[in-house]
Amino acid sequence: MEKYILNLRKEYADIPLSLKELSKNPLKQLKHWLNDAIKEKVVEANIITLATVSRNNRPSIRAVLMKQLNSKGVIFFTNYNSRKAKDLEFNPYAAINIVWREIGRQVNIEGKIKKISQKENERYFKLRTYEAKIAAITSPQSSVIKSREQLDKIFLTNDKIYKNKKIKCPANWGGFILEPNRIEFWHAREKRLHDRFVYLKDKKNWKIIRLAP
Ligand SMILES: Cc1cc2nc3c(=O)[nH]c(=O)nc-3n(C[C@H](O)[C@H](O)[C@H](O)COP(=O)(O)O)c2cc1C
Repeated sequence: MEKYILNLRKEYADIPLSLKELSKNPLKQLKHWLNDAIKEKVVEANIITLATVSRNNRPSIRAVLMKQLNSKGVIFFTNYNSRKAKDLEFNPYAAINIVWREIGRQVNIEGKIKKISQKENERYFKLRTYEAKIAAITSPQSSVIKSREQLDKIFLTNDKIYKNKKIKCPANWGGFILEPNRIEFWHAREKRLHDRFVYLKDKKNWKIIRLAP
């Protein structure tokens, strides 16, 4: 094994994480940790890695941006014809991993995903920059394209069509919400004896258990 990879290991400060400081609701706890990450200036603290499973039972992962966090779950936006969206259409169960390396924390979220409403999509689409709107219209996400030049050409054509016009949210673009039934909070400690707490949903209530690192 190459030594420079083997030696990449950081020792963490030994700040304990105890059950009594955790919120009873995991989404509230996630909000606390996200706010901590933002306060500690973690770069793009809302990057999440989303895992889906295909019709053929094959998992795949990719990064997306968490755009909302509410009392029901985590919301991200994407192309409804993308590979991930096709997976979700067939199998709505998915998982999210978040690593805030700078503060030694990880969150793993599992649950069921559904589309958010068209009204919510339109509300969010309005907030995107002009270029992000044109890109959403231009890119047939996850499809094979002929060349970069062709993509740039379509972008320029759309730019001419939509300049100074109101751009409506495309029907194939919008949000998904992952509503969790399991969320794990992992907190780095010294000697690799990290703290792990898992919230498990039992009907409407959440049970919290501690796992060995
Ligand atoms: C930091 C980062 C943030 C990203 N955010 C998004 C996002 O919010 N929505 C999205 O559809 N793709 C986003 N992407 C691109 C995805 O990782 C992915 O390439 C794309 O969604 C197509 O994935 P799929 O073919 O598996 O569906 C992001 C990529 C990176 C590296």
